[in-house]
Amino acid sequence: MSFRHALNVFELQEIARRRLPRGVYGFVEGGAEDNQSRDHNRAVFERIRFRPRSPIDVAHRSQEVELFGRRFASPFGIAPMGIAGVFAFDADIRMAKAAARMNVPFTLSNMSTVPMETIGEQAGHARWLQAYLSNDRERAAKFAARAAAAGYELLMVTTDVPVGSNRENNLRNGFTLPVRITPRLLFDGATHPRWSIEVFARTLMNHGIPRFENTDRGDRPSILAQANRSLRDRGDSVDWEFIRYLRDQWKAPLLVKGTLHPADAEMAVRVGLDGVVVSNHGGRQLDGAISPIEALPEIRAAVGKKLKLIADSGFRRGSDILKALALGADFILLGRAAMFGVVAGGEEGVVHALSLLKAEVDIDLALLGCPSISALNPDFLETRDLFNKT
Ligand SMILES: Cc1cc2nc3c(=O)[nH]c(=O)nc-3n(C[C@H](O)[C@H](O)[C@H](O)COP(=O)(O)O)c2cc1C
Repeated sequence: MSFRHALNVFELQEIARRRLPRGVYGFVEGGAEDNQSRDHNRAVFERIRFRPRSPIDVAHRSQEVELFGRRFASPFGIAPMGIAGVFAFDADIRMAKAAARMNVPFTLSNMSTVPMETIGEQAGHARWLQAYLSNDRERAAKFAARAAAAGYELLMVTTDVPVGSNRENNLRNGFTLPVRITPRLLFDGATHPRWSIEVFARTLMNHGIPRFENTDRGDRPSILAQANRSLRDRGDSVDWEFIRYLRDQWKAPLLVKGTLHPADAEMAVRVGLDGVVVSNHGGRQLDGAISPIEALPEIRAAVGKKLKLIADSGFRRGSDILKALALGADFILLGRAAMFGVVAGGEEGVVHALSLLKAEVDIDLALLGCPSISALNPDFLETRDLFNKT
């Protein structure tokens, strides 16, 4: 099936599943341990229902939002995803270009295999950057200076990966980071010739063995490098003192990603951050962690309007997006939804995924009787199932 016939993100996922070798698909789709958090991220949406209003004149609808000095066409953008180039050829560039065409932000991961400067040159739009940083101030200052010189206008530091998580499906499928070429992976590749030729061989021919191009250490380890086993598990992890230091180094909007507790959001205010990404990393880190949807109301109550709240984890439908915005989020990031798009159809596939969600948001705003996205509030929702409100 062509990605153009996909009616929703789940159908794009099915195309991506068929196209990718099992272990490679498993890396994208999977969560940690028993997938409790990943599955819970989806389940909570079903426990919130809408309370639509009518009759309301909804002939003129707007889903535009203003965020950090830019006006975006939709209340969502693309979340940072490392090693995206392993899943689709030049995936980062294609996602960035698609996001620019749709006038929404793309976030580059510093675990990407494309230099951060290249993304800016090829798809200069809203340049957002996410970083895993070691607790080394000198390196962080250098990294921040490089990102500023490359034109990045927002930096988010991921804080929910102090160590790598237990992703048993990757171990089972023989897909680990750094990537090890195992018989299982070779068999997978042989039985998925399209990926082997269009992604794997094409990448090798055009770029050589993929490398992590944006580490804070300034080196460029290959994704096969055993010596860099500890890319993230370095035995150190950042703390609030480090974030406070980074605040002085980085003048543009600074966020932490992976916040689920209101006390951490309050701390973000005290440290002078501009926002937090309320996220459980798509269920890929601590299995059993609450969903961002459950965390949002308490976090919003704790920080008021002092922080921008960006939410991610589990968003696959326009209605999911509206529920989170009504619960206090300012903006949404899409991880796998965008990745399934790029795997299924390259740049056009991402445009298709984003367009589907944009259309769903538009229709749902009308059906909800809320023509403007900025007017969403908890009164549009029935949340008793979730928050046990009496
Ligand atoms: C393949 C893949 C790679 C990811 N890599 C990163 C990363 O490098 N940095 C990061 O902060 N989050 C990373 N994430 C998490 C996403 O930024 C985001 O939090 C998550 O995907 C949201 O959940 P969703 O996929 O259900 O939308 C990754 C997610 C996926 C699926």
